Amino acid sequence: MLKNTREDYGLVSRLLHWLTFFVVAGMLAGGLLLGVLPDGGIKSIVVSAHKSFGVLVFFLMVVRLLWRLENFRPRFLGSHLALRYVSEVLHVCLYVLLLIQPLAGILMSQAYGYPVGVFGWIQMPTLVWHSPSLGGIFSQIHSATAMILAAAIVVHAAAALKHHYIDGDRTLIRMLKGR
Ligand code: HEM
Ligand code: HEM
Repeated sequence: MLKNTREDYGLVSRLLHWLTFFVVAGMLAGGLLLGVLPDGGIKSIVVSAHKSFGVLVFFLMVVRLLWRLENFRPRFLGSHLALRYVSEVLHVCLYVLLLIQPLAGILMSQAYGYPVGVFGWIQMPTLVWHSPSLGGIFSQIHSATAMILAAAIVVHAAAALKHHYIDGDRTLIRMLKGR
């Protein structure tokens, strides 16, 4: 079953969800690594991988958003109406954060005067003029968004584990293996 139903997530939503998770976890870890690596060969490899996968995250989120708009959203399995709204707001926040974060990264690099290539295959078009002070602003946005994103992911994952271990419902199972 490729598409979602009112009860279950289809294969495409599940693959996109877990692919995003693994790439974003790597991006957060890679970003922290960038802060401690000394300038040199290894750092430039990590920077270039970080930028390429980061651009990939942006397009992955666009695809996810389009797929989500095209699909049913499986019904909420908890018992509290308020928690349903909280969970929906959190999902929207995750989408917004994962669009802002790569965009801030791209704008930061370009404003500092560095090109943004994707795995050496394509070059992103220039979206902003060269201005180190603007680069500094995007750098602050990139750092702050990373922290908010990490916190949102922890809350989101904790909620999923609560559904599984405390409420004993199928919320986590249907995202892991569907029906
Ligand atoms: C989901 C996407 C992304 C995540 C989660 C992410 C995460 C991070 C994190 C956690 C840091 C460390 C921040 C700090 O030290 O305060 C960082 C640094 C950095 N990121 Fe990203 N990033 C993403 C996308 C991008 C993209 C698309 C680019 C550029 C095309 C980029 C370029 C950079 C650069 C150049 C640094 C080093 C900044 C510095 O040392 O001032 N990032 N990123
Ligand atoms: C980068 C990390 C993550 C992001 C950005 C993310 C994002 C999302 C989003 C946007 C949804 C809403 C459904 C959709 O649009 O596809 C969702 C659903 C879900 N996520 Fe995550 N997620 C992440 C990590 C995790 C982790 C680590 C877990 C489990 C421990 C998890 C468990 C779930 C579950 C169970 C649902 C279904 C919720 C429901 O049916 O109401 N997610 N996730």
